[in-house]
Amino acid sequence: MSIVLKRTGQKMPLVGMGTWKLPNAECADNIYHAIKVGVRLIDAASDYGNEKEVAEGIQRALKEGIVKREDIFITSKVWNTNHAHDHVKEAVKYQLAQWGLDYFDLYLVHFPIALKYVDPAHRYPAGWFGDDGKTVELQNTPFQETWQAMEELVDEGLVKNIGVSNVAGTLLLDILRYARIPPQVLQVELHPYLTQQALVNLAKQLDIPITAYSSLGPQGYFEMGFKGTVSLLQHDLIVNTAKAHGKTPGQVILRWSTQRGIAVIPKTSVDTLTIENQACNSFDLTEEEINAISGLNINLRLNDPVELDPRLGIFA
Ligand SMILES: NC(=O)c1ccc[n+]([C@@H]2O[C@H](COP(=O)([O-])OP(=O)(O)OC[C@H]3O[C@@H](n4cnc5c(N)ncnc54)[C@H](OP(=O)(O)O)[C@@H]3O)[C@@H](O)[C@H]2O)c1
Repeated sequence: MSIVLKRTGQKMPLVGMGTWKLPNAECADNIYHAIKVGVRLIDAASDYGNEKEVAEGIQRALKEGIVKREDIFITSKVWNTNHAHDHVKEAVKYQLAQWGLDYFDLYLVHFPIALKYVDPAHRYPAGWFGDDGKTVELQNTPFQETWQAMEELVDEGLVKNIGVSNVAGTLLLDILRYARIPPQVLQVELHPYLTQQALVNLAKQLDIPITAYSSLGPQGYFEMGFKGTVSLLQHDLIVNTAKAHGKTPGQVILRWSTQRGIAVIPKTSVDTLTIENQACNSFDLTEEEINAISGLNINLRLNDPVELDPRLGIFA
C-alpha cells in the first residue's frame, strides 16, 4: 500500500521504518533485516547521528541484489543549522556522500527553526545547542529562503520530492503562497493521544499527505509516567481492540493511522517487531473502533522544542 505523491507520481509506502535512536552499533543489521522482510521506506535525518550506519544496511541489501535503489524510498531531513540558502545545499551534499547515494526520494525541512550555522567539520550532527552545550543560538533566516533552496535541490536532481516537518497550519498556508514546488509531504507527531484533527483536515484540503511520527508514542516517555499517561500499547481500549482482531496493540495503533491514509514510520531495533509493524495493514478496524481510538486524544505532544527554549514555540 502506498501514497502517490502529486508532483512526481512517485509511490511512497504507507508503512516504513524510522531510525531515530536506533543504536549505531546495530543500525546496519536492523536496516538490512528490515529490507529483507519487506520494509521499503526508511526515514532518517542528519540529527539522528546514524545515517552512515543506516546507509550501510541499505548498501548491503543493494549489493546482494535484495532490492534495487529505485525500490527503496529514502527520506532524510535538513537540520536547523543549515537553513540559509547555501547551507541547505551543503547539507544535502554532505548527507548524500555519507549515504553513498545520488539522491534522496524525499527531503524534509526538519523543523521551521533556523539556528546559527555549524560547520560539519566543527560538530556533526550540530544538535540544538551552541558550543557551550546549553545555549540555543537562533539565526535570522526566513523560511522562504530555505524553501527556495529546497526547490533548487529538486531542480538539480539531488532530491526527488521535498516536504516539511513540525509545521503547523499557519506556516503551511504561507509556504503555499510562494512555493514553486509545494510541499509533497507533511511529517508531524501524530498518535491517538495527539490526533491533530484540524491539521489532518487542512492537509487533506491542500492535498498534502501526512506521515505520522512517534505514531506509537515513543515508549520511553510512558515508562517514566509521562504527564500521568499510560503507554498506548497498554491502554485497555487498544489492548481489547487488538484481542478482538487477533492482532497486537502496536498493529492496532498503526492501522488507526494507515486506514485513514496517514503513513507511519515506526522505529524498532527488535527484528520481530519490524515484521509485526510491517504487517499492520493486514486487517481493517471498524469505523466505530477508529472513532473510539480517536477519542483518546488529549493533545499530548511529546516532541516540542519549546521545552528547550521559550523562543522555540513553533506550536504555540
Ligand atoms: N520529524 C521529526 O521531527 C521526527 C521526530 C521524531 C521521530 N521522527 C521519525 O519517526 C520515527 C518514529 O518515531 P519514534 O521513534 O519517535 O516513535 P515510535 O516509532 O512511535 O515508537 C518507537 C518506540 O516504540 C517501540 N516499538 C516499536 N514498534 C513496537 C511494537 N510493535 N510494539 C511495541 N513497541 C514497539 C520501540 O522500541 P524498540 O526499539 O525497543 O522496539 C521504541 O521505543 C523516528 O524513528 C524518526 O525516524 C521524526
